Order: sequence, then structure tokens, then C-alpha cells
Amino acid sequence: MRVLVIGSGGREHALCWKLRQQHPEIELYCAPGNGGISEYATIVPITVDAIDQLVGFAQDQHIDLTVVGPELPLSLGIVDSFQAAGLAIFGPTRLAAEIESSKAFAKDFMQRNSIPTADFRIFNDAAAAVQYIATCTLPVVVKADGLAAGKGVVVCHDRVQAQQAVIECMQKHKKVVIEEFLEGEEFSLMAFVDGTAVLPLIAAQDHKAVYDGDQGPNTGGMGAYAPLPHFSASVIDYAVENILQPTAIALCKEGRPFTGILYAGLMLTSSGVKVIEFNARFGDPETQVILPCLESDLLSLFQACVEHRLVDVGELIWNQQVAVGVVLAAQGYPGAYATGQVIGGIENAIKQGALVFHAGTKKIDNQFVSAGGRVLNIVGTGPGLITARNCVYEAVAAVQFEGMHYRRDIAAKALAKMVQKDIAN
Ligand code: AMP
Ligand code: GLY
Repeated sequence: MRVLVIGSGGREHALCWKLRQQHPEIELYCAPGNGGISEYATIVPITVDAIDQLVGFAQDQHIDLTVVGPELPLSLGIVDSFQAAGLAIFGPTRLAAEIESSKAFAKDFMQRNSIPTADFRIFNDAAAAVQYIATCTLPVVVKADGLAAGKGVVVCHDRVQAQQAVIECMQKHKKVVIEEFLEGEEFSLMAFVDGTAVLPLIAAQDHKAVYDGDQGPNTGGMGAYAPLPHFSASVIDYAVENILQPTAIALCKEGRPFTGILYAGLMLTSSGVKVIEFNARFGDPETQVILPCLESDLLSLFQACVEHRLVDVGELIWNQQVAVGVVLAAQGYPGAYATGQVIGGIENAIKQGALVFHAGTKKIDNQFVSAGGRVLNIVGTGPGLITARNCVYEAVAAVQFEGMHYRRDIAAKALAKMVQKDIAN
């Protein structure tokens, strides 16, 4: 069997690693991949937005299944193009992927389908939006209506900042969403979806701000852990029944049936779970901590979705481990960052029992060098949060490259809550 994974980040490395681990026999390709992925898959030098070239490659190489990692090709209609060419592909169509690529669509969709979310207003006129800011309750959240790699959202604590955010947003985008600030604990819940059947994964928590204590600007994600030992099963069940399931059904009803991974970014507020955002794909860096816990066969799950027989799969099987992932970022990230730094110590991190997923690396002359803002994901696993955290931070200490920075508090809040409840191990 020939499988093509599209993307080049830590998420795609984790996908390739799991597919290779469970299926040594498959022929695995990754476009465009990265330094780490080259050890598991044949690298295909085609960028994720070159849809026609990707279709051509899949046809020429008789690819049996393509799995899409990032949002950009989904928003460009890669799934529609592959399907039109008779090629099997895991991911939503362009119309279904609008749940991520247009925040305005997603908010209106949630409102008309009674999916719990923050109150909001949408503006296509900067002056009206600025005027609205003068009257709304603070803090307020300003969101660009388009893909922005996790960086199109500003949580504003004063009106001047909010008005500036609106003006900057309207210079690049046609619409701006202004929404109520939700107070609470954020978490990510993903599910395999094939139209109406929904099969949830374990929940995870991302850490979006660049510095410890959730300080500094937002990034694509600085670390994650899964599952969430301090969350009750009833919260997760509620979110599946009241958010993921009705969303899949409503997307079908509205003529946008969703196949792929539906990702809900959620806030556990004092008045229940509410949606912050939907994504139409695997989360990054959540996937890097969820897949090490998965026992079920990933390839069969992709096939079951594509062939619309997810309903026959039953529950997913997990290995009862906890995984904690720390992102090692380049100097300057999430702003302009340095590349080309030689990375040392990866082998030592692996010897210590950690997994190392590459996000932005290249292999040059048998050496890994940095080639992106997020460079590596180090993932530690263990029977509990303490062991998994110890594992990851010991491994992080073994890795070095010039200007490397990372958060030292991944999963720290959860640990503090568990210690309070006396359930830490
Ligand atoms: P998004 O791209 O919509 O996920 O937003 C990025 C981050 O901004 C989220 O992960 C939250 O931490 C924060 N955020 C977005 N919307 C809200 C909101 N309504 N209330 C509080 N925080 C939010
Ligand atoms: N971890 C957030 C995202 O994948 O968008």
C-alpha cells in the first residue's frame, strides 16, 4: 500500500512515525516533509499549496491514500481536486473546511445551530467595528476572518488596543469578528468524522503563549499534553454530545458533509463548555502527544473515514500513558527568527526515552539544522503526568542549538491542580 502524507511540521512527523510504527510494510511518502520525516518516509519536494502537482504525483505513483496535515491545502480545495481525480484522500472538502478557514462562517454556523460559543459581532466595515469597540465590555477578542497560523487573534484589555487590532485586521482581511472574552480553562478535543459518525480522541491542552505563565504573544503552540487527568469524563462527554456530534450533523444538513479530523478548541467556563474555534484538521502540537497514546490502528481509521464506515469501528483503544510535549523554538519566534543553526543532542534525548518530532529542520551533510520557527517537539511519556514531565524535561536538557527557547511550565497548571486534589503520580 502506498500512502502520502502532506505537510512538513511536527504533526506530520508524528503521523508518519505512527503509520511507520504500525505498518512497516507500507510505502510512505511525505510532501514536502522535513529532516526528521526523511527517516520514515520518502520526501517529495512539492509544497502543500501546489495542488495540481500533488494530484499528478499521486496519480503517477499510484498512491492509495493521501492524508492532509495542514489547513492551507484544505482551504484551497485539495480534497475536492483529489476526489475529482478518483484518488482517496483523508480530509474535508473546501466547503467543509470553511469551519476553520472562515471565522465569520464558523460563528454564524454555530449561532444558527445553537452550538455554544462566545457572543460575537461580525463587521466588514472598519469604522463601524471601531465604533462598536467603544461600547463593548472589556476584555474583548478581535479575530481576523481568515487563516492566520494561530496568530490572527488579539485578546484586548483596553479600547485603544482593540481599535488598533481592528484597523490592522481590516488592512489584511475583508471581515473582522469581535467577540466576548471567555474566562476558563482551555482544551482541545478532536474526533474522526465521516459525515455523521463521530469518534473522539483523548482531549489535550495546548500552550499558545510564547512564555511561561501564558505571557507574551500567541504562537502556533509551544507545548501540549494528553490526556487531561484533572478533567472529568462528563466534561468530555458533554463536549462530544453537545458540540462535536451536532456540528457534524449540521454540516451535513447544510450541504457541507465533513470527513476528516474535526478539532474543537474549547473553553470550560462557569456556564459550561463553549467553542473558541474549530479547525478542520489535526492540531499541532496536540497530535504529537495524542498519537503516542493511541493503540488503535491509525491507517484503518483513515480508511474507515474515507470509506464512510466509521460507525463500525467501535471505541478507540489507548495505552493508558500520559504524554507531555515541549516545543523547542528558534531565537526570535514567533517574530522573525533565525534558521540554519546546527542542532545537537537529538540522539541523547531519544536515548533518555523521549520521542523527538521535527517541526522545522533540514538534514544537511548528516546534520540536522533549524529551518523554521518551531524547530523540534520533544515528547515524554509515562504512566502519569509527573513521570511524563520528568521524561520530557530531562530529554530537553540534552538538546541544544543557538538561541533555542522553550516553555518550562508545560502541564504545570494541571499538575498543581492534581496535587491539590492529591491525584498526582
Ligand atoms: P483561536 O485562533 O480562535 O483559537 O484563538 C487563539 C487563542 O486566543 C485561543 O486559543 C484562546 O487562548 C484565545 N481566545 C480566542 N477567543 C477567545 C475568547 N472568546 N475568549 C478568551 N480567549 C480567546
Ligand atoms: N494547536 C492549535 C492548532 O493546531 O491550531
